Amino acid sequence: MDQIEEVLTKTDIVELIGEYVHLKRAGRNFKALCPFHSEKTPSFIVSPERQIFKCFGCGMGGNAIKFLMEYEKMEFGEALRFLAQRAGVTLRSYRPGPDEAKKRRLYQINHLANELFHFLLVEHQTGKKALEYLFNRGIQKKTIEEFKIGYAPDKRNFLEQFIVQKKGFLKEELEASGLVFKTETNQLIDRFRNRVMFPLLDPRGNIVGFSGRLLHPRKDVGKYINTPETLIYHKSRLLFGLIQAKEAIRQTKQVIVVEGEFDMISPYQAGIKNIVAVKGSALTEEQVKLLHRFAEEILLALDEDTAGDAASRRGIQMAVSQGLNVRVVRLAGKFKDPDEAVQKDAGFFKKQIKKAVPIFDFYIDSALSRFDINTAWGKKQTTDELAPILAKIDDEVLRSHYIQRLARELGVAEEAVWEKISSSTILASPRRRERVSSTQPEDLPRRQETLADYFFSICFQHGREKLLLKQELSKFIILPAQKRLVRFLKKYFKKNKKFVSRRFAQSLPPELLEIFNGFYLSPLPNKLANKGDLEKEIEKTEKELKLAFWRQEIARLSKEVVLKEKEGKDKDVANLQTKINKLLKQISLVG
Ligand code: CTP
Ligand code: MN
Repeated sequence: MDQIEEVLTKTDIVELIGEYVHLKRAGRNFKALCPFHSEKTPSFIVSPERQIFKCFGCGMGGNAIKFLMEYEKMEFGEALRFLAQRAGVTLRSYRPGPDEAKKRRLYQINHLANELFHFLLVEHQTGKKALEYLFNRGIQKKTIEEFKIGYAPDKRNFLEQFIVQKKGFLKEELEASGLVFKTETNQLIDRFRNRVMFPLLDPRGNIVGFSGRLLHPRKDVGKYINTPETLIYHKSRLLFGLIQAKEAIRQTKQVIVVEGEFDMISPYQAGIKNIVAVKGSALTEEQVKLLHRFAEEILLALDEDTAGDAASRRGIQMAVSQGLNVRVVRLAGKFKDPDEAVQKDAGFFKKQIKKAVPIFDFYIDSALSRFDINTAWGKKQTTDELAPILAKIDDEVLRSHYIQRLARELGVAEEAVWEKISSSTILASPRRRERVSSTQPEDLPRRQETLADYFFSICFQHGREKLLLKQELSKFIILPAQKRLVRFLKKYFKKNKKFVSRRFAQSLPPELLEIFNGFYLSPLPNKLANKGDLEKEIEKTEKELKLAFWRQEIARLSKEVVLKEKEGKDKDVANLQTKINKLLKQISLVG
């Protein structure tokens, strides 16, 4: 067994994925809302038997390594090493891929820079003013320690001296970290100067970048600047404070989302620990997915403009359609932001959290306050703005509730609002289309395939592989791939007594392996755990498989009858009729 395989066999994929998404038992498998695309009903399946996952919505699938590569954006080797450590396997020879090695160097640079910035802030004369500044803003020593806040001095080539000359990193590496920028004369200049430094951590705790706040804001430079996009820093994926807040979010199943670093830190320090910051940008879909790992409810305490802008709406809509409850915390015009609110009146902020209003009420309130709803035109503008938002609510009861509310507020007929909503985007949504197509007339060959698929799934998931070798069944299995799989199974049982899915999988060519894995992933009724029900279901499926096959044959022969009748070939017609009658009799005997 090679080492990759050793790591994989010692890893439990259910446990691993369970740390990221909420898995529910479904027969022999586990299912969840897919973390790779947005959906409302779970189509993400994990098979403990095969140690694989697959989403039937977006098609993403693979083993534990693939999961980490996709979910955590790890390189192959990074994922392998991560799992090896987790499973207690020592990897003998392992060379990191080029990107991964680069990433690790960047983490190290950020880490070293942070150590230095933090030291300067809390221990050194240089950082004294910055420390005073933080104390003046009500930030305590222990908070500074917990968040490892630092100070970047007012020097132009401080980091080059430290990271390149002292610590031996390459100039190119320092440049790739984004902590410096290059001038036309090829000099590396510190990007962050005279700033309070907040390290930005990814969900695994690596420092991927910084945001820095000027001690004395000036007109000509940004009060805040951030590390630019690098190999490891992606603004749209970052949530400031997530590492610190994670446990509290998990426990309360609720997360408060604010804009800035201070808006996160001040409430956290005041005991409101389930809080993260999006750092002045819209709430992105990636951030929503990340939060959905821990939370069921999102409380937005954003600037009203940010919460209402189109980009945030997309993130919010996705959160709602994933089943997250989204509400808005309002500061009632009393304070500028959560930081100020908590520093001046923590009790008020806590009260406002309790009084958070559902997101759709917030949208409606916001529109009502901006348009003159006493005029016909104002009513039109209000519904123009709200119709597309309300149309995207998947839940019928929620949607109906808000349509009623809007109609009432505007004093117009509810039907008029419905009318506007249905002319909005919803009718084109893919879910609707799916529903229509499933009511189309039954397609016999498809039914045959589905039944065979189901039969294979039962046999593999419930340890009844030998059933597939039954002679009389072979006639009813018509798909070439399924036929081939049966042949491989025969070969396998010639050499082995016991069925071990891993061993069998090794004997399969890749295209069959995929089909084989598919049988472990398909959803089966829970009742099959009961031995009696299992036997009944097997018997029933075998029977239906036969019936479907015969019906298909009859359909085929009937078409031929019509053809031969046209050609006037009476003898052929009679022959075909006999065959059909024979099949009909078989059906009546079994059915
Ligand atoms: N921000 C940013 N990049 C900018 C401006 C702002 O990343 N160019 C982020 C920062 O995380 C900041 C947040 O947006 O914390 C809010 O910015 P701003 O409204 O300027 O914050 P203030 O409340 O004015 O800042 P402070 O409380 O530090 O005075
Ligand atoms: Mn502020």
